[in-house]
Amino acid sequence: MNQELHPSTVAVTAGRGPREPGAPTNLPVTLSSTFHPGGERIYGRHGNPNWSALEEVLGALEGGRALVYASGMGAISAVLERLPVGSGVVMPFDAYYGARKFVYEAAEHGRLAYKEVDVSDTASVLEAFDSVELLWLESPTNPLLNVADIAALAEGAHERGALVAVDSTFATPLLQRPLDLGADIVVHSITKYISGHSDVLLGAVVTRDDQTFEELLKRRSLGGAIAGPMESWLALRGLRTLPLRLERAQVNAGELARRLGAHPVVSRVRYPGLPDDPGHEVAARQMDGFGAMVCFEVADAVMADRITGALEVVVDATSLGGLETTIDRRSRYLGEEAVPEGLLRLNVGVEFVEDLWTDLSRALDAVSLNRAT
Ligand SMILES: Cc1ncc(COP(=O)(O)O)c(C=O)c1O
Repeated sequence: MNQELHPSTVAVTAGRGPREPGAPTNLPVTLSSTFHPGGERIYGRHGNPNWSALEEVLGALEGGRALVYASGMGAISAVLERLPVGSGVVMPFDAYYGARKFVYEAAEHGRLAYKEVDVSDTASVLEAFDSVELLWLESPTNPLLNVADIAALAEGAHERGALVAVDSTFATPLLQRPLDLGADIVVHSITKYISGHSDVLLGAVVTRDDQTFEELLKRRSLGGAIAGPMESWLALRGLRTLPLRLERAQVNAGELARRLGAHPVVSRVRYPGLPDDPGHEVAARQMDGFGAMVCFEVADAVMADRITGALEVVVDATSLGGLETTIDRRSRYLGEEAVPEGLLRLNVGVEFVEDLWTDLSRALDAVSLNRAT
């Protein structure tokens, strides 16, 4: 095609079969473990048309070549496992706990060494470099919503001989393109916004580097924990509507963040879209939108639980990226010791925003009244 397409058009048009008479416009689910010899595929552990279609769209959106995995953690571990034994990793102290836990375990067994950093402080991240093979970034981070200056960090890491991988799950490929900002590898939990309906677990790695791609491809076949064709089909169906879902969810998130900030029970709100948020300036520079994750803090865990217990529209559940608004007190989980105990992570969905605010403000007013009496 000789026309440069907008990402929201790519999300709809890429990864379809050839436009031949009678051919389906949507790729059917290919439930076959084996293929007739002589073609592109021979066996289902090495490739499947539904993975290929999803990979084509993700690759086009990120500007690289994509590989899908059975979960976001499958993608994360594929990148981390590739590091030579004894490698050093610099990573956010507030990265997704699964990624941190993977590194902690590897360190316990002497496979990796690590340093944890605040990714919003570029100078201190680069000061932590000492025999480091990989800078692992997440931006915005889960759950504290810290924003990393990816371009500055990638430049500094490369000068120090390290590769840079970015978990861009919260931003999605529509709001942030880490490879364009200088990163070597992008990772996604497709489970979240990309599939978008809380009904699939999948992950992806995207890179421009052919050697990295071929090595990951080989290891995926050998590791054998591959994505299913049905999940890949569902994820691609979800991805087709990502631009629409994000558009609505981001507007809702901005509105709720502003209103939450004005509520007397709320001591702090983090949303990169708020002009006074510490991550705003960098996010405005490197993102095409601020996403749909909002965090807010109340006095303590008891108050936070009273709020979540009073909600009727917003769902008290972990995970994120679905159509429905979910809320999660992250400090209730092991491994989230850095998270303030009264912090609530809100994944803003696509519902009518006034219904969300009525629900949230009713729950906040109730604890506020309770406190006053
Ligand atoms: C930022 C981030 N990365 C990776 C993952 C892991 O993804 P999955 O649950 O698909 O393995 C999660 C899961 O919550 C996440 O929030």
